Amino acid sequence: MDRALRFVFALLVGLALITLGASVVVQRTAREWFEKDVRLRAQLAVNGARHGLLARWSPERALELRALLEELTADERIRAAAAFGPECELRARTPEFPEALSGERLRPHLLANAESTAAAPREWHAVEDLPGGRVHVSALPLSGESAVLGSIVLVQDFGFVERREAEALRFLLYAFAFLALAASAVTVIAARVSWRGWSNELRRILRGGQSRPEFQPILGDVRELVERISAEGAAESEGGAWTPARLKQTLQRHLHGEKVVIVANREPYVHQRRADGTIEVMHPASGLVTALEPVMRACSGTWIAHGSGSADRETVDARARVRVPPGEEAYSLRRVWLDADEERGYYYGFSNEGLWPLCHIAHTRPMFRTEDWRHYCEVNRKFADAACAEVDTDDPIVLVQDYHFALAPRLIRERLPRATIIAFWHIPWPNAQRFAICPWRRELLEGLLGASIVGFHTQADCNHFVESVERFLETRTDPELNAIVRNGRSTLVRPYPISLEWPARWLADAPSVRECRASVVRELELAPDALIGIGVDRLDYTKGIEERLLAVERALELHPELRGRFTFVQLAAPSRSIIEAYRRLDERVVELAERINQRFGAGRYRPIVVRRAHHEPPAVFRFYRAADVCYVSSLHDGMNLVAKEFVAAREDELGVLVLSQFTGAARELTEALIVNPYDVDEAGAALAAALTMSREEQRDRMRAMRAFVAEFNVYRWAGRMLVDASRLRSRDRLAGRLTNYLVSAARMER
Ligand code: F6P
Repeated sequence: MDRALRFVFALLVGLALITLGASVVVQRTAREWFEKDVRLRAQLAVNGARHGLLARWSPERALELRALLEELTADERIRAAAAFGPECELRARTPEFPEALSGERLRPHLLANAESTAAAPREWHAVEDLPGGRVHVSALPLSGESAVLGSIVLVQDFGFVERREAEALRFLLYAFAFLALAASAVTVIAARVSWRGWSNELRRILRGGQSRPEFQPILGDVRELVERISAEGAAESEGGAWTPARLKQTLQRHLHGEKVVIVANREPYVHQRRADGTIEVMHPASGLVTALEPVMRACSGTWIAHGSGSADRETVDARARVRVPPGEEAYSLRRVWLDADEERGYYYGFSNEGLWPLCHIAHTRPMFRTEDWRHYCEVNRKFADAACAEVDTDDPIVLVQDYHFALAPRLIRERLPRATIIAFWHIPWPNAQRFAICPWRRELLEGLLGASIVGFHTQADCNHFVESVERFLETRTDPELNAIVRNGRSTLVRPYPISLEWPARWLADAPSVRECRASVVRELELAPDALIGIGVDRLDYTKGIEERLLAVERALELHPELRGRFTFVQLAAPSRSIIEAYRRLDERVVELAERINQRFGAGRYRPIVVRRAHHEPPAVFRFYRAADVCYVSSLHDGMNLVAKEFVAAREDELGVLVLSQFTGAARELTEALIVNPYDVDEAGAALAAALTMSREEQRDRMRAMRAFVAEFNVYRWAGRMLVDASRLRSRDRLAGRLTNYLVSAARMER
């Protein structure tokens, strides 16, 4: 019906435009016709009276001439007439002949007529607006035997032309209006008739009434789709902030409260046995865990991860499960056990010596070994099996996380063809030329295309992925949907920039900013007016930690006033330390910090403090809150949540973020001081600028960044993916049912 109205509206607009155009054409054509008609009438009148006029042309017969002219005006259209001699002298005129036309006005035309020859006489016609109304004036030559003797001027009424034009236009408008009404009525009636038929049928179906047998196979799905569309509309219009409650609601509305199964290498809670024999629970330093853990707490379900803690086996039940978070028990953590060879080949080898350097432009050469690949395949299968064992429907929602599990989506799809699988790649995706380095590039792409959605942090990563698929696989790309179509199945490729829970839960019990600063100053034995910088990372060569320390050195070189006052604290969590590149980095960072400390240190003052240890989130937040500046200097980073955490920690709206342009976060936190970490001069200057920035400017920048992270928080990140997944799921279900129905209908026809 809506379409019919839109059609009618378009029709009316179209007809109005046509009418407008037609009226202009009609007006111009009618005028030309009338003018021709009037000219002809004048010529006929003068030609008809020619002999009489010639006979009375001598000045002595002026009265007779005038009588003849009056005879000419007997024609109701000819209002007045006059006769002029060759010198433009007036010979005779009827009483109505307008004063305005006497003498000078007509002179040039009368002279031109007189100068023409009898063989090629000239004449003049014009439309004039005179006080008595619009008239048509013709000056026609009166030719004798051999020469033009003078001119006869006839004045004809031209007002009737306007009246005729108006009539014609009115007729035209009526005709078009009638046409428009008739066409609209026919359209609306036709639309009503067919819509009523469809809507009655649909209404009957949705109310659960008896439907035609051919509709029955797809009824459930149509009903579900209709309900979902209206629920989606309601959810969208609800608006407001994304919170755990809203995410949960979204899951219930769009996915019927189905639980989520996450497959990720890193577990959110690691049980470690301390030296004193007690067990502690650790939160690993991982952007993935920081982002996903709050989502799981909101949604519930199962997180499947490698059980890597020294006390992990002791803390699970017989099925390798433990409820977490400790004390809250909102969801299950299912641990998968890996032996030393598996861990070396799959985690350290293929994932972190192969894929990690392949995907990051950080100048560390990727290493691909067949043995590592074999373990990678085996462990992917192990996790895929665990995921299939954890689900309780044949169309579950499985979130496969990161580069450790590129093969898992396809393996899960083979077992659960109806599953909704979202694969999220937390690190950058390289361009196709670089990706070609990997000997198993095709297998990785095929594995990921088992997912319903493949998500990245940025559009650039999506583009690189699509480019790689196009280069190495036989597929079709659907640019409108941002999807890759392979063997009749689509995989959406979309950017979903990851974020944090808002507000951060670590703030709930955090000491005030003032207390945090005081305790850090005390702990590091700093002066009360010390300027504090902070960096928080895993000890990883992609994080640009060396470049960061060099920038601190440069700031001290350029600004002697900072010496003795500025201390940069680097919290560096040991990471992947059996890999040589990581061990070497660790050594280099320690050496560099020592060198800079020797150069600028004095007495108790050391410009750089490196803490190579795992720090639990409350400790990290204490440093964020104590700092004047936080420097994130990644050489290449998918998103980097440290930048967002610093912003989240600063409820006081103070502190400056200096951020590498090579992070996904730099696209969102544009109020940070964005730098090229390789450009040590630039970064050093930015650090100095941050340390001297006015509080007003700090506040303006921090306020804007906090508003952004609050709005685009991790609940929104997860919500958008789940809503997209649910839409896809409804579409697939309906498409599947329709295909089955069409196939069986075709069979029956045969
Ligand atoms: O968030 C980025 C990320 O690289 C994840 O992909 C990874 O899980 C995490 O940081 C930490 O790495 P790991 O789990 O190897 O300690």
